[in-house]
Amino acid sequence: MINRFKTGLPIETAAIPSENRGLYKDNTVLDINAFPNIMSTNKECIDGLYKFSLSDKAMVFGLGETVRGINKKGWIYESFCADDPNHQEGKRSLYGAHHFIVIKDDKCFGLFIDNPGRVTFDIGYTDRDRLVIKSENPEQYIYLIDGNEPYDIIKQFLRLIGKAYIPPKWAFGFGQSRWGYNSAENVREVVRQHRENHIPIDMVYMDIDYMEGFRDFTVREDNFPDFSAFVREMHEQHIHLVPIIDAGIKEEAGYDIYDEGEEGGFFCKDADGNTFVAAVWPGRSVFPDFMNKESRDWFGSKYKKLIDAGIDGFWNDMNEPALFYTPIRLKKAVDKVNGLSKGNPGIDSFFEISGSVNSLQNSLEDYESFYHKMDDGSVVRHDRVHNLYGMNMTRAAAEKMKEDYPDKEFLLFSRASYIGAHRYGGIWQGDNKSWWSHLKMNVAMTANLNMCGFLFTGADTGGFGDDVTEDLLIRWLSFSIFTPLMRNHSATGTREQEFYRFKDTDTFRHIIGIRYRLLPYIYESYLHAAENYEMLLRPLVFDYPYDERVLDIEDELMLGDRILIAPVVEQNKNGRMVYLPEDMIMVRLTRDAEGRFLEERSEVLAGDNYINVPLSDVVFFLKKGMTLELSEFKEYID
Ligand code: GLC
Repeated sequence: MINRFKTGLPIETAAIPSENRGLYKDNTVLDINAFPNIMSTNKECIDGLYKFSLSDKAMVFGLGETVRGINKKGWIYESFCADDPNHQEGKRSLYGAHHFIVIKDDKCFGLFIDNPGRVTFDIGYTDRDRLVIKSENPEQYIYLIDGNEPYDIIKQFLRLIGKAYIPPKWAFGFGQSRWGYNSAENVREVVRQHRENHIPIDMVYMDIDYMEGFRDFTVREDNFPDFSAFVREMHEQHIHLVPIIDAGIKEEAGYDIYDEGEEGGFFCKDADGNTFVAAVWPGRSVFPDFMNKESRDWFGSKYKKLIDAGIDGFWNDMNEPALFYTPIRLKKAVDKVNGLSKGNPGIDSFFEISGSVNSLQNSLEDYESFYHKMDDGSVVRHDRVHNLYGMNMTRAAAEKMKEDYPDKEFLLFSRASYIGAHRYGGIWQGDNKSWWSHLKMNVAMTANLNMCGFLFTGADTGGFGDDVTEDLLIRWLSFSIFTPLMRNHSATGTREQEFYRFKDTDTFRHIIGIRYRLLPYIYESYLHAAENYEMLLRPLVFDYPYDERVLDIEDELMLGDRILIAPVVEQNKNGRMVYLPEDMIMVRLTRDAEGRFLEERSEVLAGDNYINVPLSDVVFFLKKGMTLELSEFKEYID
C-alpha cells in the first residue's frame, strides 16, 4: 500500500512515470498519524522535518549511492550529488541522490522523499535512537510504503518507479577503460593485447582524450583519422567503442555546439540572464539546461554525430554537474591570496590561502548562482533542483535515441543520478580508489543501488584513483564478474591496470572467462529482475527475513534466484567464513595442473563454513536442487 502526501507546491521530478499514478493513493492533506513511530508535529513535517524513533534492533536500508554498509544506521547522509574522488567513510554525499529508505523495526515502512534539493538523513547519528529527515526546501512529495518485510516494500517501490533500463546483451561483456587512451593506436594495442592473451573483451571505453580539446561530439583528427573506418575496424574485431560525453560545453565562438546552444538559448543562465560559465575539462564551459525538453531534445540529438560513425554506447560524465571553478570566484580567491601573501604571512593567512583555493571546486555558492528553465516554463535556481541535473542529461540522450533509432539498442550510463534515472540508463559508481575499503563498499553499494532501481551498475574495477596491486585487481574482478556493468577503469597518472600488464594473465583470463560462462544466468536473471520489478543483487536479510543470523551479514549477496556470492574483500586472506542460510552446493571454478578449466561441486553445505578461496579460484553457492549450466568459454559476446 502506497500513500502520497504533499507539502507546498513540489517540483515535478519525473521520478515516477506518469502512467504509474494509479499505484498510490494521493492524499491532499498531510496525515502524520499514517507514519509509524513518528515523533514530529504536523507543523514540523510541513516544514520538512520528519523525526522517527528507532529501537535498538531497528535496521535502515536504501539511500543508493552512499558510503558505508547496507544497514545505514549510525551515520548522517546528505543527498546532494557530489563529485568527490577522494571519499572515505566520513563523506555525506556521493555522485547520486537516492532519497528512498526502508525502516525495519516493530513496523516496517518505506519512505521516498521526492525532493530534488538537499535532503539530510540523520540515521542515529545525532541520537542513536532517532531517524531525522530534514529537507532544505520543504515543498515535496512523500511516499509512504507499508509492507510486512523490507523486500515487500522495495518491490512496491520498484514497481512505482518503473522498469529498469535494459542494455544490449554485449554490454554485459567486459570493457577496458583508462583515462589516457588518446589515439587509435592506443586502442588497437589494448584490443591486440586482450585478443593475443585470449582475455575476453567486448568494449573499449574512450575517455576525454579522444575529443578535440575536450569538446563534446568532436573526435581529434590527428590521432583518430577516419573515425568511422576505425569504429568499423573495431566492430570487425567484436569491439564496441564507448566514448564519454561530458556535461560542460566549451565556451568558444565557432564551435558549432556552443554556437547552436547559445543561439537556441539552451544553456543555463546566471541571475542577470547571461549564460552561466564555469570551468571543467575544456576550461571555461557552459552547461546545457537539461531541465527543459527543448534543451534536452537539442542536446540528445547531438549524439547522432557519433552514432552515424557507428558508435552504439556512451557514458555521460561530470553531470552533478562538477564545477572546477567559476571565473568570478576564481578572481575573488586570487585577489584574496594576493592580499594575504603580501609581506610575511602568518600561519592563519596560510590556511586562509589554501582554504580559499581548495574551496573553489563544486561550491554551493556557485550552485546558487545559476538558473534553469523548467518544463513548465518556471525558472528555478540550480541548488533547488541540483539532484536532477545528471538524470536529465541521460534522459536527454535516452529519449532522443529511442525516438530517432527505435529499433536500435544503446549502452548508456551516467555518473550522477536521481531516483527514476534507472529507466534511462545505468550508472557507474563514480570515482573510487584502488583501496580494499572501496572494494568492500562496492559490494554494499551495489545492493543499495539495486534497492533504488539501478540494476545496471558496477564500480571501476581495480579502483580509479591510486595504484592498484595485482591481488586487489584479482579480488575486485572476482566480484565484478557478478555485477552487470563490468569495467576496468583507472585515472591517468596511476599505475596501469590492464590485466595483461600483470604476470598472472592466466588468472585474469580464467576469471573473466567465468563471467562469460555465467552470462546466460546473469543475463536471464537481469531480464527477470527488470521485468518483475525485483532486485538482481540482494542482501541475505531480504531473502531470509526470519533467519536472525543473516541480519548483519553485509558481505554476501544473493544473485538472481539461485546463487549466493561471498566475495573476498580483504588483502592477504586465503579464504573467509561464509554463512549459508539454507542447503547449498559450493561451486568452485578453478584450473587443473595443466591449466584446464575445472568445475568442482561440493557436498551439501549449510550454516557457517570456512571456505578456502585462493586468488586463482572463483567460488559461489548454488541452492540445493537448482541447476546451473555454464556455457563455453567465449572471447566476446557479439
Ligand atoms: C571524471 C570521471 C572519470 C574520468 C575523468 C576524465 O573523473 O569520473 O571516470 O576518467 O573524469 O574524464
